[in-house]
Amino acid sequence: MEGKEKSGAGGLVFPERVLTGDRPTGRLHLGHYVGSLKNRVALQAQGECTILIADLHMLTTRPDAAAIKEIGANARGLALDYLAAGIDPKRTCIYLQSAVPEVYELSLIFGMLVTVNRLARLPSLKDMARAADIGEESIPYGLLGYPVLQSADILLPRATLVPVGKDNEAHVEVTREIARRFNGLYGEVFPEPRALVGEVPTLLGTDGSAKMSKSLGNCIFLSDSSDEVRRKVRKMYTDPKRVHADVPGTVEGNPVFQYLEAFAADRALVEGLAARYRAGGVGDGEVKERLVEVLEAFLEPMRRRRAEIEAQRGAVESVILEGTERMRDIAKNTMKEVRRAMGLSSAWNSLRRAVEKAEAKPEAPR
Ligand code: TRP
Repeated sequence: MEGKEKSGAGGLVFPERVLTGDRPTGRLHLGHYVGSLKNRVALQAQGECTILIADLHMLTTRPDAAAIKEIGANARGLALDYLAAGIDPKRTCIYLQSAVPEVYELSLIFGMLVTVNRLARLPSLKDMARAADIGEESIPYGLLGYPVLQSADILLPRATLVPVGKDNEAHVEVTREIARRFNGLYGEVFPEPRALVGEVPTLLGTDGSAKMSKSLGNCIFLSDSSDEVRRKVRKMYTDPKRVHADVPGTVEGNPVFQYLEAFAADRALVEGLAARYRAGGVGDGEVKERLVEVLEAFLEPMRRRRAEIEAQRGAVESVILEGTERMRDIAKNTMKEVRRAMGLSSAWNSLRRAVEKAEAKPEAPR
């Protein structure tokens, strides 16, 4: 395969197709935005985009009936977060994973094309197990197969570009390997997609100690009110060695400055504040007030869009419904091609033809 065109397979050139998604486990926060959502919004202008609500992936750690019961409301909340953040349903197809039967099918086939060893080595699986309080001895088969299912998501619409957070980069690598293996065994059907990680791959939590994550309770959500944003920013961790405004402070690793850099439209404001902070010329309180303003300028348009969409009854639901129907057509087509390439359809067809022939021309009685 060396030396072949990267974007194409077998001489075919695939147009850029974007696919990504999230598990419906809660609201999106600032870390999601800079890690991946921002890229998704920008990419809408450039290609065919698809976002899936990955409820089957949620089942890998939460197969209980109580979690399943919440999928509907959580899926709606997730889609609302997307739309408020600037995802345009005319350009981006949003669909519910569990309502597309072909993904179960393709995932099973892909499971034949990757080793247990390869999957078991992925640190992300252990991280997810730990976050869900699952001991290493109790990891379900489905969680081991998480990246296989993800590969099926990505390759069902034959995506070429996958905007994801850093923790998902390795899963896209597995997807490339599966695509290569499939194409090698059965002929060129799939592209080898690339991951696209946002410019701030790891946004710190408000506690400054780790990345922003729902399970750590250190998040500012895209749907937080002005009051919540102000309260959270005021409590934010800054530089612990700094007891006074006139003591020089550290900007590096300081979440307040990381957020300012990630969200301020005005670069000069951030550079000016950072210079004064380093020199001991500005207090934490003032820097935080600037951050509140910056975040409010970023979040306020989202709140407005959210309110507009919420005012239209059934609007979010119909976006998911239409997206899912569109995805079902695409998925059917790809699976037809997969079965044809593998020769699975000819096995079935020859059985059927034999029966049809026999019925058309019954054997003469002896
Ligand atoms: N693994 C992603 C997460 O961490 C969700 C996901 C499922 C996904 N399928 C995908 C992301 C396909 C990108 C592409 O929540």
